[in-house]
Amino acid sequence: MDTSIPIESPSLSRRQLLNFITGATVAAVAGAALYPAGKFFIAPVEKTGAGGAIIAKDVLGNPIPATQILAEVPGSRALVAGLGGEPTYLIVKEDHTLDNIGILDNCTHLGCTFPWNPNDQQFQCPCHGSRYAPDGTVVRGPAPLPLKIFHVAVIDNSILISPWTETDPRTGEKPWWV
Ligand code: FES
Repeated sequence: MDTSIPIESPSLSRRQLLNFITGATVAAVAGAALYPAGKFFIAPVEKTGAGGAIIAKDVLGNPIPATQILAEVPGSRALVAGLGGEPTYLIVKEDHTLDNIGILDNCTHLGCTFPWNPNDQQFQCPCHGSRYAPDGTVVRGPAPLPLKIFHVAVIDNSILISPWTETDPRTGEKPWWV
């Protein structure tokens, strides 16, 4: 399959960038054991292709081979630069494949980034205590909405991330971000 990507440049807003940096700093101090420091980065702006797809990148802006992510512990969450350079969690399943849904690392309360807590099996926001289930639904507020999700696919060892615009499988309704 042709994986060439036509060009368009979404931007990382100032607020998103500040939230990313602030959230990463807070989380690094509070929970380094839960959220390896090597995962933090300021993602480069990405180019989008057919269907708005982009290739997942690492901290240096290089495409991340799927084999690199799939080598991580089953059940873990891998943080990559996704659409618009936004930090996006990929889910490594027990069978060493990638879940076809990615989750945006951006709290729906006030936009902080957050770590995955493998012991509690939750995303836990360090800013005001919101907690999310593995699929991004709210377990505890003040977060008002489920986390934004994306399509994830692996093609020729590249990880493609594209917008989720259809029905949210968690709510059975139109996504709040569409
Ligand atoms: Fe996450 Fe407030 S920003 S709980």
